[in-house]
Amino acid sequence: MQRIIKLTLFITGIFVFHACYFDKEELLYPSGNGCDTTNVTYSGTVAPILENNCNTCHSGTDPFAGILTDNYDDLKTIVDNGRFWGATSHDPNFSPMPKDRPQLSECSLLQIDIWIKNGALND
Ligand code: HEC
Repeated sequence: MQRIIKLTLFITGIFVFHACYFDKEELLYPSGNGCDTTNVTYSGTVAPILENNCNTCHSGTDPFAGILTDNYDDLKTIVDNGRFWGATSHDPNFSPMPKDRPQLSECSLLQIDIWIKNGALND
């Protein structure tokens, strides 16, 4: 009888331990899915997002809407005038980007938001 009680406690313990473990993970990474929000940089985070989602239309000599997203200086201009965040966050006052494609992932938008709030540095 004692062995069964011990065994039950042991198994319950495993479940409780696991529950705590996952609770903590939720607190550490509120956005979930391993979205890296700690090391957000222009070169390591933002530029690759734009490379994959924007530069096909916004680079070269005749970019759509005269907007370039493939270099820091031109990007900084549309960050500062609000068009970059307006378009990517689907603010109704701007054309939603990327055009005719699904909105950027929650993680990408979170990273872009963090980058802008940290001063949109060329890092
Ligand atoms: C398939 C081509 C295409 C892609 C991909 C694309 N754009 Fe655009 N973009 C356009 C066109 C065309 C316009 C002109 C407005 C319109 O037709 O909606 C535009 C306009 C814009 C504007 C101005 C919006 C405004 O209302 O002032 C911004 C900023 C912009 N794009 C940024 C981006 C960013 C950032 C991405 C990637 C997340 C992106 N675009 C992806 C074609 C594209």
